[in-house]
Amino acid sequence: MKTHPLFPKVNALLHGCDYNPEQWLDRPDILEEDIHLMKQAGVNTVTLGVFSWSMYEPTEGEYRFEWMHKIMDDLYKNGIYTILATPSGARPAWLDEKYPEAMRTNLKRVKNLHGLRHNHCITSPAYRRLVHEMDVKLAEEFGSHPGLILWHISNEFGGECACELCAEKFRTYLREKYHNNIEELNQAWWTTFWSHRFNDFDQIEPPASHGEKSIHGLNLDWKRFTTVNTRDFMEAEMAVFREKTPDIPITTNFMHLYAALDYNQMAKPLDVISWDSYPKYGDPDRSLYDISVENAFDHVTMRSFKKDRPIMMMESVPSLVNWHEYNKPKRPGVHRITALQAIACGSDTVQYFQWRKGRGSFEQYHGAVMDHLGRSDTRVFRDVEALGAALAALKEVQGSLVKAQAAILFDWDNRWAIDDAAAFSDKSKKYEQTCIDLFRLFVKNGVEVDLISSEESFADYQVLVAPMLYLLKPGVARRMKEFTEAGGQLLATYITGYVDEHTLCYLGGFPGDGLTELFGLYTEEIDTLFPKDTNGAAFLEDAPVEGTYKVRDYCEIVKLQGARTLAVYTDDFYKNTPVVTVNPCGKGKAYYVAARMEASGMEAVLRYLWQQAGIEPKSLPEGVEYHRRLGEGVAYDFYLNYTNEEKTVTTEQGVDLLTGSAVGGKTVLPPLGVIVCRVQL
Ligand code: GLA
Ligand code: ZN
Repeated sequence: MKTHPLFPKVNALLHGCDYNPEQWLDRPDILEEDIHLMKQAGVNTVTLGVFSWSMYEPTEGEYRFEWMHKIMDDLYKNGIYTILATPSGARPAWLDEKYPEAMRTNLKRVKNLHGLRHNHCITSPAYRRLVHEMDVKLAEEFGSHPGLILWHISNEFGGECACELCAEKFRTYLREKYHNNIEELNQAWWTTFWSHRFNDFDQIEPPASHGEKSIHGLNLDWKRFTTVNTRDFMEAEMAVFREKTPDIPITTNFMHLYAALDYNQMAKPLDVISWDSYPKYGDPDRSLYDISVENAFDHVTMRSFKKDRPIMMMESVPSLVNWHEYNKPKRPGVHRITALQAIACGSDTVQYFQWRKGRGSFEQYHGAVMDHLGRSDTRVFRDVEALGAALAALKEVQGSLVKAQAAILFDWDNRWAIDDAAAFSDKSKKYEQTCIDLFRLFVKNGVEVDLISSEESFADYQVLVAPMLYLLKPGVARRMKEFTEAGGQLLATYITGYVDEHTLCYLGGFPGDGLTELFGLYTEEIDTLFPKDTNGAAFLEDAPVEGTYKVRDYCEIVKLQGARTLAVYTDDFYKNTPVVTVNPCGKGKAYYVAARMEASGMEAVLRYLWQQAGIEPKSLPEGVEYHRRLGEGVAYDFYLNYTNEEKTVTTEQGVDLLTGSAVGGKTVLPPLGVIVCRVQL
């Protein structure tokens, strides 16, 4: 497998952190100590300048970069590389004072005051101009610094603005999308309903809780526009660096599964995907394994945006955050395993927010490598130091990639449309959770899976699972058919293919757009169950899957048009009607699971699909996660034991890179233990 090392200059997995030396410029002793301690902790990179605007440009047009030069130079001399951020994530006070248009207006049409961060109108020409000027300066000042390895655009883009500038830009977006034809928009948005027809694009407003929120097409287009506008802002920032420093790659840091921006779209122009991981470790109601698998879902979502290169875990924390409901430090051993999980899932970096706790303001108690205590003999520092050594031992893993033969569709447009649909039950729709629950079954069985949008090619996969694909974009049904004809195993569930890309219902039967033929059935009704209701799915004697499984929340009543029944409902007026079906199509098969079936039932069905596709699940002990990264002629098998007990896994013959010892056959993982077994292929 061809590898893709992210930072040949560093030639190592990155171990780094957000570093805010501008908060300590009056303490040269601390800055000096920082470098010394970073080296001790095996930190080879820092992210600088994320919130440095007011230090770079204390008043408009007065730039000060000397301090940053000194910091970057000193770091570089000591072998520490820099990821340099653009400071557009927070604005200095003078900017908002002079250009109030830069401050955000919320959907209630209330203009925010100066303060916080990520509080901008990203349409604002003044704000864009000032960001541009800053970025040009940064590129000129630091673009050729030998320590610079990556541009970090802004910070965690997010939110929406409904000011008049944004509203007008939204109208321009709509004019273009609907060919300046208001009738086309009226059709797409079904505005004759409740007399909501528009005569002119000028009448359209962004959605508002005290105004228009009943037109799903409008709501969806607004969300799409917010992504388009944010991406446009990001690309305007990127353009400066593309021109001035074409050899320096560019990222922005994503916030886990952040709902309000379509990360598939945001990811496209970036050179490398990076994201910030802050799971609620230590929740007594959940096992560490459970929380970690959910975190793996995020890693894999990120990894799937660019499958040909590793990702970066740009932020995480070695101990605790300050913004969870209960801020519990990571227990001994947890930092190590969760950091190595990032590498297992395809990250080439473990980075923290932040190096040193600040003395004041909102994040003063947020965990960091260095505490207010100022000592390096703390538990947290030692954990970080040990991790630095572990990452050094894994150096050769950099650039290797995870290859999945299966994919689950996880689609932002679909998320938005399902969440917005006034139907089913808002309490039990749980689209994301449904995707995560399916993903969990793949992880449990050691089967690598990608998480892709419905717009991506299906051609590289043998198994494709499309949970609750309510919104079918143009061409998706056709591509699903091609996938199946070519020999793929396709599985869809209840609430598939109800609406088109405008959220208009398909006529003539769900799942629409030709999927009724592909699956050989149509849905006549959907039963939304109350939490106490259950039904069952009983597999028939001649079915390749055995058993009876509980179903909850959603039961579609389907009529067959060629599909074969594998399981039937056990109760209610639709007892004995089909709940799981299969329909052959070309060389492949299309399976339909018409109800929300309990995990063991879904697992049984998936096992059958994997078998049909020639994918072999792994037998893993409970609480152990497995991933394989592929290098050139070599595989790295990661086994992570999230339990407090010893677990025995069966590995291939190889070397555990973390210890240097030979492993093969049965190997005991200690509590919270990790093995990274290098296998020659
Ligand atoms: C985010 C931000 C950081 C910091 C951390 C705290 O990820 O990007 O600047 O505020 O949260 O957890
Ligand atoms: Zn605005």
